[in-house]
Amino acid sequence: MGSLIVLASGNGSNFQAIAEYFNNLNTHTISALITDQLSAYALARAKSLAIPYYVVPYFKKDRTTAEKIMASIISTYNTDLIALAGFMRILSPAFIHQFRGKIINIHPSLLPSYPGTNSIARAYEAGESQLGITVHYVDEGVDTGTIIIQKSIPRAPTLEIMTERIHQLEHETYPRILHSLLDSQ
Ligand code: GAR
Repeated sequence: MGSLIVLASGNGSNFQAIAEYFNNLNTHTISALITDQLSAYALARAKSLAIPYYVVPYFKKDRTTAEKIMASIISTYNTDLIALAGFMRILSPAFIHQFRGKIINIHPSLLPSYPGTNSIARAYEAGESQLGITVHYVDEGVDTGTIIIQKSIPRAPTLEIMTERIHQLEHETYPRILHSLLDSQ
């Protein structure tokens, strides 16, 4: 039985997709949600899914303290894998070193194209004919770690539809990849 912790900063739709998938699975568990944002909608989702949640704000941008708190929560649960799902902070090299090989991220573009924020809109506005998602290990860079899987879909008629389809693709893909990574631990 593997233990997964999800880090999210906002809406939390990927967190919910992972939680629902793992609930039906009965082999691995989501031990907790950690968010850096008190206003994150992911918190409401954790409450209704009855998953333990922790708010770890970066007071005065103090990353060291926030990461120490997160590391102690992660250790408490004997965590096998840490899944970033819209977690909009850059983790320090020390934190990445501590959990090397255990931190996974999902990004809404075909990396190395369009790293950072606003990736779907930037790819769409650049006229790309194929857009997609990347699941990768987290290293010290921004969206630069070793790629685990990429999936692409054709350009949609509007940015709104494109965005919806990219999120749908994330929700179908991310839980399955986390499942197989936990299986192989
Ligand atoms: C997702 O599209 C995820 O790929 C993206 O944030 C969104 C979070 O949505 N992550 C990044 O852009 C990381 N660089 P959610 O909160 O509804 O899961």
